[in-house]
Amino acid sequence: MKKQIILCGMCIALAGMMGCNPTSDSVQVNHLQVEMKNNPQGIDVAHPRFSWQIHAGQPDLVQTGYRIQVAASADDLKAGKNLLWDSGDVKSDQSLWIAYEGEQLQAKKPYFWRVKVDTNQGSGKWSDVQTWGMAMLDANDWKGQWIGENALSNPGEKDQGDTRLAARYLRKPFQVSKEVKRAVLYISGLGSSESYLNGKRISKDVFAPMPSLYTSRVYYNVYDVTDLLQQGENLLGVVLGNGRYFSMRVPGMLTTGLPSLLAQLEVEYTDGSMDQVVSDTSWKVTSQGPIVANNEFDGEEYDARKELKGWNTVSFDDSAWKTADLMKEPGGKLTAQPNPNLAVQDTVVPVNVIARSDGKFILDMGQNMVGWLGVKLKGKDNQPITFRFAEILNPDTTLYVANLRSAKVTDIYTPAADGEFSWHPSFVYHGFRYVEVSGLDYQPSTTDFAGYVVYDAMSTTGQFESSNALVNQIHKNAFWGIRSNYRGMPTDCPQRDERLGWLGDRATGASGEAYLFNNALLYNKWLQDIEDSQNEAGSISVVSPKYWEIYADDVTWPSAYFYVADMLYRQFGDDSAIRKHYPSMKRWMQHMEEVALKDGVIVNDTYGDWCMPPEEQHLIHSQDPARKTDGAILSTTVYYDLLNKMVKFAELCGQTADIPAYQKLAAEMKEAYNAKYFNRETAQYGNNTVTANILSLRLGLVPEGFEQKVFDNIVRKTEDDFGGHVSTGVLGIQHLMRGLTEYGRKDLALKIVTNETYPSWGYMINRGATTIWELWNGDTADPAMNSANHVMLLGDLLIWYYEDLAGIKCADDAQAFKKIEMAPVFPEGLNHVKASYESVYGKIESDWTRDGNRLDWRVVVPGNTTAVIRIPKAYGVSVTSHPGVHQVSNTETELVVEVGSGEYRFTSK
Ligand code: BGC
Repeated sequence: MKKQIILCGMCIALAGMMGCNPTSDSVQVNHLQVEMKNNPQGIDVAHPRFSWQIHAGQPDLVQTGYRIQVAASADDLKAGKNLLWDSGDVKSDQSLWIAYEGEQLQAKKPYFWRVKVDTNQGSGKWSDVQTWGMAMLDANDWKGQWIGENALSNPGEKDQGDTRLAARYLRKPFQVSKEVKRAVLYISGLGSSESYLNGKRISKDVFAPMPSLYTSRVYYNVYDVTDLLQQGENLLGVVLGNGRYFSMRVPGMLTTGLPSLLAQLEVEYTDGSMDQVVSDTSWKVTSQGPIVANNEFDGEEYDARKELKGWNTVSFDDSAWKTADLMKEPGGKLTAQPNPNLAVQDTVVPVNVIARSDGKFILDMGQNMVGWLGVKLKGKDNQPITFRFAEILNPDTTLYVANLRSAKVTDIYTPAADGEFSWHPSFVYHGFRYVEVSGLDYQPSTTDFAGYVVYDAMSTTGQFESSNALVNQIHKNAFWGIRSNYRGMPTDCPQRDERLGWLGDRATGASGEAYLFNNALLYNKWLQDIEDSQNEAGSISVVSPKYWEIYADDVTWPSAYFYVADMLYRQFGDDSAIRKHYPSMKRWMQHMEEVALKDGVIVNDTYGDWCMPPEEQHLIHSQDPARKTDGAILSTTVYYDLLNKMVKFAELCGQTADIPAYQKLAAEMKEAYNAKYFNRETAQYGNNTVTANILSLRLGLVPEGFEQKVFDNIVRKTEDDFGGHVSTGVLGIQHLMRGLTEYGRKDLALKIVTNETYPSWGYMINRGATTIWELWNGDTADPAMNSANHVMLLGDLLIWYYEDLAGIKCADDAQAFKKIEMAPVFPEGLNHVKASYESVYGKIESDWTRDGNRLDWRVVVPGNTTAVIRIPKAYGVSVTSHPGVHQVSNTETELVVEVGSGEYRFTSK
């Protein structure tokens, strides 16, 4: 068979240019970031890190050097004078995470920076001027006091049981009489806040600031509000909701206090003077406003009759308001929030309104979503309109609410007059597909409603489609499930009375999610929650922040602490989490050795292979000993893997003295584990579950020479006992797709993904799922623990989609896709995959179509990266010399093409 070449349309010669460095218009620097944020305020690290991307019209773009300059004013920077840092010409291809090394940065000051790069295609021009603002760097910089209303003053309010509390409205007038140079607001409104200057919202942020273990750490936000000020009288107004500070359930959940505000507005004038407006007892407060109740589980009640028209503007008469109370300090360290707040990031228009005979209406959003219902309706004076939310509808069109447990998920709006109104809540969110609307006198239409999708502000990074509709639908469900479960921390579920940062759910999941969303800042923040929640003894709370305090001392849930830190390094090139958390990780490793190491293996385990498919449809957990995996197998395999991670982390952190002990323990553990759990005759671990075998195999515990036999057991079990279906819970699933593929059964992996019978993702979809269920049998199991919107059962599926199906993978010896390994596995039955991933270097694309033995594959490799592209010989692609192609070689089975950045096309003749 004579097959032929490739190659990209847009390539012209580029050689010749190497070595000389004329300024080139085609070399572009963009996506400039400080600590992975665009022109951020509130940076509180002493050496902020700069990143950028480079692009050019021609292939094979490599950065050969850079120069960064920083100044205290944009004019100085442009003039190149009074520089606080001039890196000089640095010969380097590094374009990510370059730390500031100039003069000491001052608290609260703005800084300006720019970068110029040299490349093998010429030098770029100076970038546009970028800026960032420093946070308060010292607790003494805070002059404000914690204020609020220190009482339950409205009927029905309670701080016990299903707590109930009205929102607090706080206001402070102040004068501006000189020309303003810059005004910055530092603010922490606990639990959730909305802030206004002169009647205008300061930002689109939702639920600001982000939740934390408030007794250890309190986040504050920083906003440049210069443009919102006016000469003369001004008004700063803040509404406080409960968030997670005044907890939804007490006891049972950690609660910290009544909503409290700390604020400091600093107005700098052009004459060099400054005014500070700080939270103190000169502020006024009321809880007699329209938000009469807000509780993230139970919903928000809004009484328009109590609206305080113009309360956040200068002209409002606040004589009926009280003087603000001083509140108990939360206790935690005030910390500039490192990650963005939530925001409305998408809108869903309902697909149907069903009129019921009882006068109520059922709204179908067509999608299980998380956030707010926005309405534009006609109301009657004094006649409340009630919105109840649920994920599922009963056959008789009533809401199925059993799986919400005690969460009431009900919003109530009471109009002040007859007529039209628009509304959405502020301090609650619901996980729902259906809404029951009651209290309306007419049939509304779908266009009277909008679903506002609320989650942490972050970009979508991944796109994936294939020739298989089910494969695509699962990706879509995953996309919705993931963004449903970010609320300043990754949550287990968005609808019932839980919504907590359970560690185990994200151990591997976080990596898969990172292909769809740039979740780096969120997960970085969550690692801090985990560290803050660690106890004196070193134990990790498997829910962090520890709103439920559970020091289970097992391994599999806390492992997320390590895996997520590793993910941030691998996927985004950010090693700061590993460095920062290394001491706490080390403490936990030691602690576990002390409490759980017996006869060479780790014996503690709490949750088992959580949520494996049970033998009977009504069960939550399997009762069948043959299906369950021994807890010590789970703990020991994962702990062994963590020992190996610690070797890598220790090396990175320069803690090399720690390495021998980890290596020694790992070697001893492997031996003890195999002596105890491995049957050399049958090549089985424990009772031969897929989970026991695949963890042992993938995490490197199988004695040399037995790998294939152990793998054969995985296949036999899957095919013979489970009919080619998944048999694992949350732990086994983290390795299943990659494990099957790595050892040659990509067909079985694809079968598992395309199954439509129980248990499978396809089964969920056939039963109406538009997200991912908590249980494989979510349609029939006990509602006591049965969310229709969890993400933990995704395991390593999304990693498999992007890395194995699309071939978008960071090479093992690189980080952040600096070197890309493109080796799709092209499973039979899938003829087309088109995917892209917005890496920190830029967009990577892979788009292949196969027709029998013919392949047409287009790839895009971003600037300043390289790729190794592996094409099975069977497709008969050949490559001749071409711009961007560094090397072409052959193995027995593959054509290996090493390329620089650019667009390439590989086509069989
Ligand atoms: C949560 C899970 C969690 C588990 C552990 C459940 O209630 O929803 O996601 O990991 O508990 O016990």
